[in-house]
Amino acid sequence: MFKFNFQNPTKIIFGEGRIKDISSEIGKDRRILIAYGGGSIKKNGVFDQVKASLSGYTCFEFSGIEPNPSYETLMKAVQLVREEKIDYILAVGGGSVIDGSKFIAAAVNFSGDPWDLLAKGAAVENALPLGCVLTLPATGSEMNSGAVVTRRSLQTKLPFSNPSLYPRFAILDPTTTFTLPTKQISNGVVDAFVHVVEQYLTYPVNAKVQDRFAEGLLLTLIEEGPNALQDPQNYDVRANIMWCATLALNGLIGSGVPQDWATHMIGHELTALYGLDHAQTLAIVLPSVLTVKKEQKAAKLLQYAERVWGICDGDDSERIDKAIVKTRSFFESLQVKTYLSDYGIDTEGISKVVAQLEQHHMVRLGEKKNITPEISRKILELSLSSD
Ligand code: NZQ
Ligand code: ZN
Repeated sequence: MFKFNFQNPTKIIFGEGRIKDISSEIGKDRRILIAYGGGSIKKNGVFDQVKASLSGYTCFEFSGIEPNPSYETLMKAVQLVREEKIDYILAVGGGSVIDGSKFIAAAVNFSGDPWDLLAKGAAVENALPLGCVLTLPATGSEMNSGAVVTRRSLQTKLPFSNPSLYPRFAILDPTTTFTLPTKQISNGVVDAFVHVVEQYLTYPVNAKVQDRFAEGLLLTLIEEGPNALQDPQNYDVRANIMWCATLALNGLIGSGVPQDWATHMIGHELTALYGLDHAQTLAIVLPSVLTVKKEQKAAKLLQYAERVWGICDGDDSERIDKAIVKTRSFFESLQVKTYLSDYGIDTEGISKVVAQLEQHHMVRLGEKKNITPEISRKILELSLSSD
């Protein structure tokens, strides 16, 4: 196991009816920005619960944070926060709203051009405190310090992170997820699954606890993902998925182990160029990353095949291939398509993705930093279509 530091300061407030506890977490003297997306929280009663908890507080609202939140929209919120001297951000929504709120929190007191936080990795100064109410289990943003923001005008989607951006608290009420459209339930399960894989399917460093945790999360997602689609009002199913998604990317299973993230970085380019949902890009790219890096990842792929999918028959290569097929079928069973052609992207599209990767310096990806643009091209070509 590698050396590591692990510190996660986010307080999790889990369970039905917990939104009312927001007021215990934020001082009465705060000027709060309630940041949200396109309005789902107004339809499902989440917004009303938030307002009820914050009665007597000075609150402002900023709506319209899009899926794959845009720099352009977020800068409008930054302006509002500066004008109104707002000093606390409350994100209410999915990963996009939470990520967008992290950017707002970081940009408000930043002395330079806020785009540099993303494009140049500039250090965050004096971020505002942030809390969140999660309504879509997927990204883990509710309990991590990262965010991903897209500058639409440049077709560029970039991640950034800073320890000051961990939410102070995160309310996880599984009943808020009952209104998710089927597609978003599936997207969430796929995203959480791939987060685990990015930190687990690399090479062994004898990190037994991290491996067993990772396998536990994968097995739970495989079990409960289909249940959430079949029985959407089942509280226990939603609760298990919600906690899985948080634990998949809160730093715990990634401590002391090598990490890959090539699937995510290639996927971000697909979203920036073609607008695919984040999880759709992962479902397309992951099976091909595992195939192209089969030898490098062989030991962990064999462990995955056996412990997660129960595959014990065949030689090493056959068992690995079967595990990759199982992975793809799992995504397809959740109705997330796994080939570029399913989304109308062709060879020309692949060249554009590779050019973007180069432009964004994503030229040494993966746990061994050996996924060059040419290998990324190979990965994408393998993902082109099922024939
Ligand atoms: O905007 P509203 O109206 O709220 O609707 C949203 C949105 O259209 C809807 N939704 C959310 N909760 C709902 C609901 N609809 C009905 N009922 C509810 N309870 O779902 C749609 C998608 O929401 P979004 O927040 O975009 O989805 P997700 O949580 O999957 O977030 C995706 C973003 O997170 C980034 C992705 O790149 C993408 O930009 N990621 C962030 C990470 C992080 N911070 O650590 C890591 C991830 O790998 C990922 O990159
Ligand atoms: Zn993700």
